[in-house]
Amino acid sequence: MTAGTSDIEKAAGVLRAGGLVALPTETVYGLGANAEDPAAVARIFQVKGRPPSHPLIVHIGGAEQLDDWVEDVPATARLLAEHFWPGPLTLVLRRGSRVPLEATGGLDTVAVRVPDHPVALALLAAFAGGVTAPSANRFGQVSPTTANDVRDELGDAVDFVLDGGPCQVGVESTIVDVTGEAPSILRPGGVTREDLEAVLGFPLAVPSASHIRVPGQHPSHYAPRARVVLVEPEKVIAEAERAQELGHRVGVFVPAPFAGAPVKAHTVVAVPASMAAYARGLYGFLRELDQRGCDLIVASVPAQEGLGLAIANRLRRAAGPRSTV
Ligand code: TXA
Ligand code: MG
Repeated sequence: MTAGTSDIEKAAGVLRAGGLVALPTETVYGLGANAEDPAAVARIFQVKGRPPSHPLIVHIGGAEQLDDWVEDVPATARLLAEHFWPGPLTLVLRRGSRVPLEATGGLDTVAVRVPDHPVALALLAAFAGGVTAPSANRFGQVSPTTANDVRDELGDAVDFVLDGGPCQVGVESTIVDVTGEAPSILRPGGVTREDLEAVLGFPLAVPSASHIRVPGQHPSHYAPRARVVLVEPEKVIAEAERAQELGHRVGVFVPAPFAGAPVKAHTVVAVPASMAAYARGLYGFLRELDQRGCDLIVASVPAQEGLGLAIANRLRRAAGPRSTV
């Protein structure tokens, strides 16, 4: 059930007392703490099993609060904030003195975003502060997109779970570094490169999974328990059936053009033709295949345009070094 006013008040109290609150955002559920409480921030790393050098995102209630948290906001950042906040865009800026080094993994920059979810915004307003929140999963695992996913993943390790229903975007925010001379995408996500470029008026570099610049951007992130193998779209069904015959319990992501074809596999997922629907469902599909006991997932990456770029990035990371395309 979606959180009501008394849940929001309770959650704000938990944050004030140094506790951890799982909160819904439009992208994925976050594991939140008071950004200005180093002990609470340290608990996030402990609960997630995340190395302390991996920086967190500070969630704030509105673009007008940006100057409270960062130094020297460049015009590009204001432009992007104005267009895309609240929304699935994270800006990396120069860290303000209010942000403890514990939240940034010791960096002099800080990642900030305004989430586009009524429950998250209500919590930020009630708490009247910044909330550091990584995705509410154990380090390296698939991000949660429902409150139940969070409970399954973290159980009692989180003090309070705010239920805001299933996440509407389904993949994490796009991270844009605006501290350098030219802005660059550090992680593709819910705001597309094309939409960013339309506002900026110039092209942005396409990120590459193999080019790791930031702590926390490891190729093995977003991984289900099952091994993920990526092949060309037209080879997915044959590869899945071959592996199934070899004795694997295969989960297969059948690409939209081949939907409806009979497939001899343990579990079949029909990939939605719409990239927005695919992004919304992606992590749920991966969790479902794990829950059904699949040990191998066969999939292909979508065309790397629009939300396809973020989906391809997450699938490649789920496949890790084992990916063939
Ligand atoms: O959609 C999202 O962004 C979700 C929701 C909860 O807001 N959060 C999320 O957080 O995905 P997390 O911690 O799973 O991923 C944050 C990423 C990390 O990979 C980290 O490398 C990057 O943001 N990051 C954070 N601070 C940074 C900084 N100062 N410089 C560069 N990258 C940074
Ligand atoms: Mg994460």
